[in-house]
Amino acid sequence: DLSVTWLGRTMPGCLYNASGVWCREEDELEAVRASAAAALISKSATLAPREGNPEPRYHRTALGSINSMGLPNRGFAYYLDYARRYDYACGKPLFLSLSGMTLEDNLTMLRTLAAAGLPAIPEINLSCPNVPGKPQLGYDFVATTEALNAFDQAWPGRYGVKLPPYFDQAHFAAMAEILNRHPRLAFVTCINSIGNGLVVDIDSEAVAIKPKDGLGGLGGDYVLPTALANVREFYRLLPGKDIVGCGGVRSGREAFMHILAGARAVQVGTCLYHEGPAAFARIAAELAELMQAKGYRKLDDFRGRLRTL
Ligand code: DHB
Repeated sequence: DLSVTWLGRTMPGCLYNASGVWCREEDELEAVRASAAAALISKSATLAPREGNPEPRYHRTALGSINSMGLPNRGFAYYLDYARRYDYACGKPLFLSLSGMTLEDNLTMLRTLAAAGLPAIPEINLSCPNVPGKPQLGYDFVATTEALNAFDQAWPGRYGVKLPPYFDQAHFAAMAEILNRHPRLAFVTCINSIGNGLVVDIDSEAVAIKPKDGLGGLGGDYVLPTALANVREFYRLLPGKDIVGCGGVRSGREAFMHILAGARAVQVGTCLYHEGPAAFARIAAELAELMQAKGYRKLDDFRGRLRTL
């Protein structure tokens, strides 16, 4: 039984797409919904549509991926229209990822979504690494504090944030202290890609993607241990909030690790990009088989119960 009770509802499973993957166009969102995914989230929206960065902007490697998409998206109104037509009775929660170019744009999107009165839940992206000249908000604790205070005013319901990876215990503690001041911040998604990696091709002696002279966000196997560390630390530091694990999930084994570290739900990014929505049924079956072998009947039996030595 992979079902999950979260945000006051029960979802049929714990897996869904990471924002950005298979969710820019309506037909992609519909393919995720029709798959074994238990929920879905849309591509990070900006107020106005964007073409994104020049190509090549995504590159697969043996260990994962590097991307600098640059927020190509249809614009907030497109995803809001999808959310208005979405059949919430299907049992799969719909999340809308919001990544305004300014705080004011994020507030405009939140107020508009609130006025629409839909059950869609915002995941506000504090961590896009790929817009040249625009730093990741989640690495600026003062700006994050200001943003969360403003979100509380603009949005009356529960919401989540997508965090960048942190690499120092002082940063985990400082960010947790900020997040804990916001009771309606119900979940944090850990992690976004590890920003500004560089993949080098020996034959051509060149970078792998065009934007930012080759710098881009890493996903896949590269990021699994960092993702697990972030899930674990925020699980411990944010009592009463849920953690959504994201990073390096390509089989039931990594999904199990995320849940053991404390994740309530688990997103799939790079693997979904490479395999398509059939990945959800495969990963869910692998997770169920692993649980059966261990004698676990439900996710609550082991969530967060990672042992130390
Ligand atoms: C993009 C990448 C991200 O990691 C993110 O959080 C939002 C957008 C992008 O390049 O499109």
